[in-house]
Amino acid sequence: MKRIKVLSVFGTRPEAIKMIPLVQELARHPGMESLCAVTAQHRQMLDSVLDIFSLKPDYDLNIMEPRQSLYTITAKALTGMEGVLQESKPDLVLVHGDTSTTFVGALAAFYAQIPVGHVEAGLRTYDKYSPFPEEMNRNLVSRIATLHFCPTASNVENLRREGITEGVCQTGNTVIDALKTTVRENYTFVEPSLNGLDFAKKRIILVTCHRRENYGQPMEEIMSALGEIAREFPDTELVYPVHLSPVVQEAAHRHLDGIPNVRLIPPLDVADMHNLMARSYLVLTDSGGLQEEAPSLGKPVLVLRRETERPEAVAAGTVKLAGTKKEDILAMTRTLLTDEGAYAAMAHAVNPYGDGHACARIGSAIEKYFA
Ligand code: UD1
Ligand code: UDP
Repeated sequence: MKRIKVLSVFGTRPEAIKMIPLVQELARHPGMESLCAVTAQHRQMLDSVLDIFSLKPDYDLNIMEPRQSLYTITAKALTGMEGVLQESKPDLVLVHGDTSTTFVGALAAFYAQIPVGHVEAGLRTYDKYSPFPEEMNRNLVSRIATLHFCPTASNVENLRREGITEGVCQTGNTVIDALKTTVRENYTFVEPSLNGLDFAKKRIILVTCHRRENYGQPMEEIMSALGEIAREFPDTELVYPVHLSPVVQEAAHRHLDGIPNVRLIPPLDVADMHNLMARSYLVLTDSGGLQEEAPSLGKPVLVLRRETERPEAVAAGTVKLAGTKKEDILAMTRTLLTDEGAYAAMAHAVNPYGDGHACARIGSAIEKYFA
C-alpha cells in the first residue's frame, strides 16, 4: 500500500515548537511518510528548537538575512520551495499559523496543485494591519487550504462565518502537546544565569516583545514602562530573553541596560522558557505562543498589544489586554503587583487551547481525508 507523503513546512521558532511534535507524531503512523522542510526564516532560534526535539529537516532553504524585509523572505522562500516540491512530491503540505513562511509554503503548494493542511487555523483579529502581516497571512492561507486544523471552537466559528465549513476540524493547539513534554519539577536550566534566580524571594516577571506592529513608538512605550516597573518594585526581577531582531535588541538595551533587577538574556531554548514560565509570577508579552502556554500553567498574562486573536484565555480570566501605552501597562501591572485579590483572580490554570492530544487528532484527520 502506498504511504501518504506529508511535507511539513516551517521557518520560525514558534512554528517549529508547534510543528515538530506533529512531524514526529505523523512519522509514527505506519501509513504515512513524514518529511520536513525549513525555510530557516529564523536561523539560531529555529536551530535551538530543532536541537531540543532532535529533528533533522529533510530540506533547509537557509534564507535568513539580518534585518530581512517581508519582500526578501517571501521571494527567497517561494523560489526555494519550487525545488523542494518538485523533488519531494508530497501528497499533502502542512503549514502552521501566520508567518511569511506559512503563507509562502501554502502558496508554493497551491502552484504545484498539492493540497494544503493549515495547522492553527481560524485565528482572527479582523484588523488587516494588526498583527502585521500575520492577520493577512492567515486569511490568505485559509483561502488556499483544503484542511483546516483549528485549536478552538471559536476558530471553527470564525471560518464558518467566512463560508469555510469543509475540511475543518477542531483539534486543540499543538503547543500544549509540546508543553507537556518540557515542564519538570526538578528542572535545571541550560541558561546559567537562571539557576541563580531566587524564585522564593523575588517575584519573577517574564517579559517578551517582538511584534513588527510594535516597532517604533509602541515599543518605546513598552520598554519605558518595563524600566519603570522594575524601579518601582525592587522585590521583582524582570527576566527578558530578548528576541534576536536587531530592532528589538536595540530598543531593549537602550531602555533597560543597567537597571539592577532587569536581566536581559539571550533567547532561551524552549525547555528553559517553559520551565521559567512555570516558576514566574507574571508574564508581560506581545507573543502569541505565550498567551496560549501561560494560562495552562496558571500564570497571569498582560498582553502588550491592542488586540488579540486569542480571546479564549481572556474569557477564562487569565489573560488581559494591556495595550501599548506606557500609562496603561504601568497601571495594570501595578494592580497585579499590589492587589492580591486581583492577582488571585487571574492566577488559575485553565486549558482553553487543548488537552495535549492535538497532534493525534490531526494525524487521524489526515488519514481520514486520504481514506
Ligand atoms: C517572525 C514572524 C512572526 C512571529 C515571529 C516569532 C513574519 C513576518 N513574522 O517575526 O509572525 O511572531 O517570527 O518570533 O513571518 N533574527 C536572527 N536570528 C534568528 C531569528 C531572527 O538574527 O534566529 C533576526 C534577523 O536579523 C531577522 C530579524 O531577526 O532579519 C527578524 O526576523 P523575522 O523572521 O523577519 O521577523 P520576526 O520579528 O522574528
Ligand atoms: N520561546 C522560547 N524562547 C524564548 C522566547 C519564546 O522558546 O526566549 C517560545 C515560547 O515559549 C513559545 C514560542 O517561543 O512557545 C513563542 O514564540 P514567539 O513569541 O517568538 O512568537 P509568536 O508566538 O508571537 O508568533
